[in-house]
Amino acid sequence: MSKKNSIPKHIAIIMDGNGRWASKRGLDRSKGHLKGYENIKPNVIYAKKIGIKCITLFAFSTENWNRSSKEINFIFDLASKVIYEESKFLNKNKVRIIHLGSIDNLPEKMIDRIKKSEEMTKDNKDFTLAVAFNYGSRDEILRAVNKIIDSRINTQLSEEDFESFFMTNMLSNPDVVIRTGGEKRLSNFLLWQSAYSELIFFDKFWPDFETHDLDLVIDEYNNRIRNFGS
Ligand code: IPE
Ligand code: IPE
Ligand code: MG
Repeated sequence: MSKKNSIPKHIAIIMDGNGRWASKRGLDRSKGHLKGYENIKPNVIYAKKIGIKCITLFAFSTENWNRSSKEINFIFDLASKVIYEESKFLNKNKVRIIHLGSIDNLPEKMIDRIKKSEEMTKDNKDFTLAVAFNYGSRDEILRAVNKIIDSRINTQLSEEDFESFFMTNMLSNPDVVIRTGGEKRLSNFLLWQSAYSELIFFDKFWPDFETHDLDLVIDEYNNRIRNFGS
C-alpha cells in the first residue's frame, strides 16, 4: 500500500508530565507547569502552519481537584494569565478559542477571561484551539444525559443527536490523541470522541515536547491504516 501523506485535521493532546519534569530537576512542580504552559504556544503555531485545523489540549481534569490547593491555585492563576496574555495574539492569527469543561468552581476572574476570549475569537475560521479545563469525559456524558432529561425529549436519539449535547459539539472527532509523559491511558479524556482516534504515546514529558515531535506524529499517523470497522 502506498504511503499516505495527509495531515490530520484534529489532534488532541494529553499534556502530561509537568510535575515529573520539575521533580527530575529538583524543582517545585509549579516550575513544570510554568514550562508546560510556555510550551503550548510554539506547538500551536507550528500545528497551524503545517495545516492542522484544530488542537484540543487537556489542561485540567475533573479529577485534578484531588491535588493540593497550592498546586490547583497555581495552575488556575497560570491558566488565567495565559488566556489573558495570549487571546489577542491568537485572535490576530485567526484562531478560535473554545473552552471544554465545566465552569463550576472555577475562579470568577478565570471564567470572565475564558468567556471574553471565546467571544473575541468566535468568528475565526482558520484554526480552533480547544482547551479542556475542568473537563472530564464522564462529566460531559452525564451532563448531556441530564440536559436531555431537562428538555423532556421523549423520542429516541441518534448518535449525532446525542453528540449535539456534548461540549465538543462544534468539533470533529480527534484523528489523533497524543499523550506525553509515558502513561498509556486516557484519564477520562474524550472517551466517546476518541472511539476511532489513533493513539500516540510519548515517553517524554510535556515540557520537552517539541514541534519536531508533531512531525513524528504526522509520520506515524500516515503509517496507520484506519479501518473504522470496515
Ligand atoms: C499534567 O502534568 C498537567 C496536569 C495534570 C494539570 P502533571 O501535573 O500530571 O505531571 P505529572 O504527571 O505529575 O508528572
Ligand atoms: C491527565 O493527567 C490530565 C491532564 C493532563 C490535564 P493526570 O496526570 O491527571 O492523569 P493520571 O492521574 O496520571 O491518570
Ligand atoms: Mg500526570
